[in-house]
Amino acid sequence: MSICYESGHRIFSLNTEHTTYQMKVDSFGFLLHLYYGSSIHADADYLLQYYDRGFSGNPSDAGNDRTYSLDVLPQEYPVMGMGDYRSSALKIHNADDSDCCDLRYVSHEIKQGKYGLPGLPAVHTAAEEAETLEILLEDAVSKVQVQLLFGVLAKEDIITRSVKIRNCGSDRIIVEKAASACLDFLGGDYDLLSFYGRHTMERNFQRTEILHGNYVIGSRRGTSSHQYNPAVIIADKETTEDFGVCYGMVLVYSGGFQFEAEKDQFGQTRAIMGLQEDLFHYPLETGEILTVPETILCYSDSGFSTLSMRYHHCIREHICRGKYKNQSRPVLLNSWEAAYFHFTGETICKLAKRAAQLGIDMVVMDDGWFGKREDDNSGLGDWQVNEKKLGCTLNELAQRVNNLGMKFGIWIEPEMISEDSDLYRAHPDWAMQIPGRKPVRGRNQLVLDFSRENIRTYIFEQICAVLDQGNIEYVKWDMNRSIADVYSAVNAQGKVLYDYVLGIYDFMEKFVQRYPDILLEGCSGGGGRFDAGMMYYSPQIWCSDNTDAIDRIRIQYGTSFFYPISTVGSHVSAVPNHQTGRSVSLHTRGVVAMAGTFGYELNVNALTKMETDEIQEQVRQYKKYEELIRQGRYYRLSNPFTDNYAAWMFAAEDKKSALLNVVMLENHSNMEISVVKLKGLEADAVYEDERSGRRYDGAALMAAGLPLPLPKEEYPAYQIELRLCGRCENN
Ligand code: GLA
Repeated sequence: MSICYESGHRIFSLNTEHTTYQMKVDSFGFLLHLYYGSSIHADADYLLQYYDRGFSGNPSDAGNDRTYSLDVLPQEYPVMGMGDYRSSALKIHNADDSDCCDLRYVSHEIKQGKYGLPGLPAVHTAAEEAETLEILLEDAVSKVQVQLLFGVLAKEDIITRSVKIRNCGSDRIIVEKAASACLDFLGGDYDLLSFYGRHTMERNFQRTEILHGNYVIGSRRGTSSHQYNPAVIIADKETTEDFGVCYGMVLVYSGGFQFEAEKDQFGQTRAIMGLQEDLFHYPLETGEILTVPETILCYSDSGFSTLSMRYHHCIREHICRGKYKNQSRPVLLNSWEAAYFHFTGETICKLAKRAAQLGIDMVVMDDGWFGKREDDNSGLGDWQVNEKKLGCTLNELAQRVNNLGMKFGIWIEPEMISEDSDLYRAHPDWAMQIPGRKPVRGRNQLVLDFSRENIRTYIFEQICAVLDQGNIEYVKWDMNRSIADVYSAVNAQGKVLYDYVLGIYDFMEKFVQRYPDILLEGCSGGGGRFDAGMMYYSPQIWCSDNTDAIDRIRIQYGTSFFYPISTVGSHVSAVPNHQTGRSVSLHTRGVVAMAGTFGYELNVNALTKMETDEIQEQVRQYKKYEELIRQGRYYRLSNPFTDNYAAWMFAAEDKKSALLNVVMLENHSNMEISVVKLKGLEADAVYEDERSGRRYDGAALMAAGLPLPLPKEEYPAYQIELRLCGRCENN
């Protein structure tokens, strides 16, 4: 049993292989948080301390006891309006116009298996691999019920949290804020690791001290966003890759989110992850339920590396689904940076023909194949194949590509509408815009109101009609703007953004059910919706519109803290790079793109003979390493934001093989030697460098490291494949 309830002290213990999470129902029925960290074997309620703290109010249940205050005690699900003045996880506006919710314990249930969430993505696993705890809390006056859901995946060292808010009263209430997880820490000084960015420069690593005050990150854009990723780490100040305590909070949601970290008046830290509260006023009529997206919690006492590996495994095995979850992915050639909007069917076939010679498996026809779409100012919403532009039908094109021995895929952007489109001319009210005002445009396009089922159904049918025309084996689902003008012609306004995201999930679920064999790749201007929610439907996501290898190293570094390599779309593009103007060798571009689902994004018909040969070899190498890259353990060996080289490696679970990757970032005369220390090998084994035949002792590679050659050009890359070939002699 990983979930235990000790009825005497009313203590819940959630135990995973290496961690314990504890909470307690106290004598007043409040649910207090006790502990989260390395496994413990006893009740931790002795940690609760009671002192009279001035200006921290006392619930009337406490009578004259001024030492009891929710403003001080660690709570499981703190609510606004109950005398806790710190950030809250829940704000309810009651029918009587008051803002308060007094949640007390009612009952609980422990169940075998992991709970699922209606309409929302969530961690899933076989029933015997998880347990669920449901705790029901209620406000006796308003009859608002809150069900806290805890999923425990013991072997994975993962605890998930979600919340269902149900209005059991007789009048409408409004949920003004709802989080799914709160972590209250009794003491300690913590750092926060968060991942900020912008279009083409996502998930930069930032480590800051959590100080007194409220530190908030999030997205108000309707998507999880390029600007902040919905995943954070709270760490001890001393924590490094390999040592120290850290906690992860990863939200399984693709819309607006809010994370708050607050160090309170007594030095206690609170961390809250949930829905973005701006533009959110969710009305609940009698009997209605709001489900808050799940947060995946993880704890490590051995640094970030272990935490990341646990998230990688959890997301790869228990978020991703479908045929491609554990399958090798096709090496693809995408037409975007090769041709942008300027192609015909012939162009695609020519790309496919050359790609086939290079060993590439699939050609993807990106934006521009439908409606009137010669640039990004028109056509979105008109999902009819532009046969005139292609010079053939979609079926003919797919067949021609297939006849070359290649798979065929296409790009779509279902959530969008151009004002210059037949769809907009017919249904202007389908776009989100506020009556009487001119809408905010993004990439000169508007957003369809996907909170409305009829609109989703219409677009779904249009897209199915396209996909049913031929053998399409891959779809790239894009979303190229942030949402503004939050308004629905039909639905209540405070619901729109949440219902929009659930609308996308509904569409995507129908899509994956209807086309289980299609590989779906997510995208939002690159990595603007790179989140665990999307990974439930699309096992890979285009990581960034920035294909510059050197920028990508940093983007992929930040991404690696939570998301497995199998989800990271990464391609080799042309030089000078279209985003940065930088020129980097083809070898370096290949090494960087191999830290993901590999592909190309360049005009393969403009390659020199040398480049052609090198790409053929690159594809061969990638296919050789593909399983190790996709399923192996991923280790960060340097910090590319501070170190003069970038290094990462993949090591097989059984430690029999490994792939070291290095890119030198600095190039100076008479440089000092950098030494990279490997990880994840067997200390007492001998490893052979496949290419040079040179042998190394596993312990030495990890403890002493490998000296890197001095760079003789800009950004050289090294890839060293190691195979376990024996045991050290002195063992
Ligand atoms: C977005 C994507 C690109 C490409 C273009 C097409 O920017 O991230 O990869 O598909 O749209 O318009």
